[in-house]
Amino acid sequence: MAPSILPGVAFVTGGARGLGNDIAVAFAREGCPSIVIVDILPDEEMEKGRREVEKHNAQCLAIRCDVSKEREVQDAIAQTVAKFGRLDYAANFAGISGPTTMIEAMPVEKFEQCLRVNTTGVWLCTKHQILQMSKQEPQVSKWSSVPQRGAIVNCASVNSILSGVTTAAYTASKHAVVGLTKTAALEARSQHIRVNSLSPGFIWTDMIEKNMNSDNSAAMRQAWESWESRQGRKAFPAEIANATVLLCSHMMSLVNAHNLVCDNGFTVNENGI
Ligand SMILES: NC(=O)c1ccc[n+]([C@@H]2O[C@H](COP(=O)([O-])OP(=O)(O)OC[C@H]3O[C@@H](n4cnc5c(N)ncnc54)[C@H](O)[C@@H]3O)[C@@H](O)[C@H]2O)c1
Repeated sequence: MAPSILPGVAFVTGGARGLGNDIAVAFAREGCPSIVIVDILPDEEMEKGRREVEKHNAQCLAIRCDVSKEREVQDAIAQTVAKFGRLDYAANFAGISGPTTMIEAMPVEKFEQCLRVNTTGVWLCTKHQILQMSKQEPQVSKWSSVPQRGAIVNCASVNSILSGVTTAAYTASKHAVVGLTKTAALEARSQHIRVNSLSPGFIWTDMIEKNMNSDNSAAMRQAWESWESRQGRKAFPAEIANATVLLCSHMMSLVNAHNLVCDNGFTVNENGI
């Protein structure tokens, strides 16, 4: 059998549903044998997410962990190492959409909560993933000229580049993800650990569905249609999953501190058609 491009252990936050679950499934489908999904959802949803991954001949451990709490993140990584022995790839995709109000009407608690999950959560995971990866023996493969100790992909968004009215918290949180990712990449590169971010365009998931059911759902649906039109077409969760897994693989060994925009040209499309 040909060797997998993903030997080792993958750790995916927000991994029980949405983009995170598709990423965990893609790791399994592409031959990663051991996968951990981390989320805050109830047992039955954690179990559902775990079963989706195990359909692809991988072992999957589901861990309940709030990524904004350092002790829980440390514990999730300790459980990963206790079960599988190491941690090679991390996709930090747990996130929330945050408040959608003008700055003047935005309560500080809502602003801070969005940053706590989307930014502090990603930072905490990156911190403890680097700590674990740096203790490990590097992996050697035919795809990389340099042994690899680990690869981390942090979830940003097109809102790491652009903004829109009522998105202050989400936009700030995603700009910050790109910034902290660049710093982490520079700090960890001497240990052969890569840290990149990935910015998805517009992909229909539970997070979006929830926003659409809010008070101004008609306006939100209209906005979604115009975003999809600027994106050129509907996009699928598996497309983000494939890009994330590829970015983690040894085939991308020189790609570091990069923000990979996956939006079919949305962000460069100035006239929106
Ligand atoms: N769907 C899109 O169009 C889109 C576009 C750009 C960026 N993103 C980003 O992609 C990521 C995944 O979003 P999604 O669309 O799959 O949404 P989703 O709501 O389906 O998935 C997010 C997951 O994160 C989990 N989560 C939330 N807070 C958590 C916490 N504190 N600790 C642990 N887990 C937590 C949720 O339970 C959920 O399973 C987010 O970071 C989001 O900002 C999504």
